[in-house]
Amino acid sequence: MIVAKTTRLFIRQFHYADLEEFAKILGDPEVMRFSLNGTKTRIETREFIEKCLETYQACDFGIWAVERREDQQLLGYCGLVPQKVEGERFMELGYRLGVSFWGKGYATEAATIVRDYALFRLKLPYLISIIEGENIASWRVAEKIGMRYERDSTFGGKAVRIYSRGRK
Ligand SMILES: CC(C)(COP(=O)(O)OP(=O)(O)OC[C@H]1O[C@@H](n2cnc3c(N)ncnc32)[C@H](O)[C@@H]1OP(=O)(O)O)[C@@H](O)C(=O)NCCC(=O)NCCS
Repeated sequence: MIVAKTTRLFIRQFHYADLEEFAKILGDPEVMRFSLNGTKTRIETREFIEKCLETYQACDFGIWAVERREDQQLLGYCGLVPQKVEGERFMELGYRLGVSFWGKGYATEAATIVRDYALFRLKLPYLISIIEGENIASWRVAEKIGMRYERDSTFGGKAVRIYSRGRK
C-alpha cells in the first residue's frame, strides 16, 4: 500500500518481496555504521519486515519502504517509530538508505513527506530524531526538514543528539 508520493518517490508499506534488496542495504556496514546493533543478516531483515507488517496492522504509522518511482528500485526506509528517551516516549522520524542512493536528496525528500504525515495526518505536536554525534549527513537531513538540535542525550548506551520539531 502506498502511504505517500513525492516527485521521485513512493513511501509505501514493506512486503516480503523486498527481502533481497533490503537485506543488501541492511547488511552493508557503511549503511549500518550509525545504528544500535550493526548490520543485519537476511534472517534479521526478514524479521524486521515482519515487525513492520505487524505494526501496519495495529497502527497508522510505521517504518515504510522508500521506492524510486521511475524504476521501482528500493532505496531504503523512512518512517515513524515510538522511542523511549530518558523514560519518556516520543515519536521518532528515522531514515536509512543504501549507499549508492546517498547524496541525491532522496532522504530529505522522503523525510519531508513523512514529517508532513506525522504533522497533518497524525497531528503529532512533537517529533524527534535521535542522531549520533558524528552522523553529519543525518543532522543535515533533520535540519533540512525543519528540526532543530534540542539537547544531548544517551540512547542504547550511545551518546546522541536529539533533534526535534514542535512542542511536547
Ligand atoms: C543520512 C542519510 C539517510 C542521508 O541520505 P541522503 O539521501 O544522502 O541525504 P540527502 O541527499 O537528502 O542530503 C541531505 C544533506 O546532507 C548532506 N550530506 C550528505 N552526506 C553527507 C556527509 N557524508 N557529510 C556531510 N553532509 C552530508 C547533503 O549535502 C545534504 O545537505 P545540503 O543539501 O545542505 O548539501 C544517508 O546518509 C544514510 O542512509 N546513512 C546511513 C543510515 C543513517 O545513518 N541513518 C540515520 C540514522 S539517525
